[in-house]
Amino acid sequence: MTSSEAISNEQDAAKRNLWLHFTRMSAYEDSDVPVIVRGSGAYVYDQHGKRYLDGLSGLFVSQVGHGRAEIAEAGARQATELAYFPLWSYAHPKAIELAARLADMAPGDLNRVFFTTSGSEAVESAWKLAKQYFKLTGEPGRYKVLSRTIAYHGTSMGALAITGLADIKHAFEPLPPGGIRVPNTNFYRAPDFVAGDEVEFGGWAADEIERAILREGPESVAAVFLEPVQNSGGCFPPPPGYFQRVREICDRYGVLLVSDEVICAFGRLGYYFGSQRYEYQPDIITFAKGVTSGYSPLGGMLVSDALMEPFNAGTATFLHGVTFAGHPVSCAVALANLDIFEKEDLLGNVRANEAAFRSTLEKLYDLPIVGDVRGAGYFYGIEMVKDKVTRETFTDEESERLLRGFLSQALFDAGLVCRADDRGDPVIQLAPPLICGQEHFDEMEQVLRAVLTEAWTRI
Ligand SMILES: Cc1ncc(COP(=O)(O)O)c(C=O)c1O
Repeated sequence: MTSSEAISNEQDAAKRNLWLHFTRMSAYEDSDVPVIVRGSGAYVYDQHGKRYLDGLSGLFVSQVGHGRAEIAEAGARQATELAYFPLWSYAHPKAIELAARLADMAPGDLNRVFFTTSGSEAVESAWKLAKQYFKLTGEPGRYKVLSRTIAYHGTSMGALAITGLADIKHAFEPLPPGGIRVPNTNFYRAPDFVAGDEVEFGGWAADEIERAILREGPESVAAVFLEPVQNSGGCFPPPPGYFQRVREICDRYGVLLVSDEVICAFGRLGYYFGSQRYEYQPDIITFAKGVTSGYSPLGGMLVSDALMEPFNAGTATFLHGVTFAGHPVSCAVALANLDIFEKEDLLGNVRANEAAFRSTLEKLYDLPIVGDVRGAGYFYGIEMVKDKVTRETFTDEESERLLRGFLSQALFDAGLVCRADDRGDPVIQLAPPLICGQEHFDEMEQVLRAVLTEAWTRI
């Protein structure tokens, strides 16, 4: 078989047998499914050998970059020694070692690690833990969860109930009851009465959490789920003082603060955990993605000593588990991944270069379509607008034509993996591997400049 025949057979099978996630399969009726075959550093390569800058770390995952043999070897060694054993009643050395290391890295008294295989499972687990904790501690009425509009917290039924994106929920309703929405921290779209002052805006957004707790009845509210920087909608950083005020509110009403760090942990914001950057103490941190840089799947939650306490006594048991959680290979891989963080000072790299990343992206402000550049660390969103002065956004039809009809494909064709997303207002998102530097920022800026200039002529 020639290599072009092999590629054609692969395309046929991809179209016939593979179901891509969150993807309109009909989009590939007349075009090829992109097949990424290998990666090296900050780049990936497709089946034709074409190179792409991985400006999204796959899906906010590949912190240390692609092709790290030492991580693959750590996984292979573990598979040879003990490929699998469950964490149901048993432990294995790599899960113990990783739990201790994560507890050491985490803020405050988050000393207990419950592993999962994914971010959705981590979020699901955190909600279940909150509910069971309150049942054990004499407040059985607390089951509701607050989260922010347009925030994404995963796709399993519980996590989807916490997710704030109406469009991806309708098909699956009714969802578990108790998911309540509060405003997000999109300062670019702040309501007029707080639009001029970020601190005032942050105070208002935090106080909306208090109002929601009071409206629902504090005795019914279990937890607030917040990302340090909200991904969906295009990287909304917290206004100064926001998390401190939220922490006070949670303490006042006995509500748990869950920091959903599935994206923001493991260096994305220049710290191991986003809550460390913004100096707040969560009761639970949920994590996944970057903990292994994607060399094997793993997620989990870090839980405070206080939350663990009722589960330490008598017959109490957290009635929850999944077969592959804390898989030995994934734990070995995570440890090797964290070794690279330390050896190469990846947190230091992000902190040293984040200002340059921002200012490189800010050069795009000279384009008429670029309304807002926002984010932190190696995690940025660029909001596109029809009118910079009025901040007018695109109609649904324009957004469909611009994002799906042109931008996503054009950026990919130009050699950049990033995300054009209109789950809120239309944004392009960038989250490169933490090994990146100025030459990668320049490459992103150049591709974006060319493609966004072309996009403007098509509106
Ligand atoms: C903040 C947040 N929570 C949860 C999830 C769900 O994680 P997963 O896709 O691993 O289930 C995601 C995924 O992107 C996320 O960004």
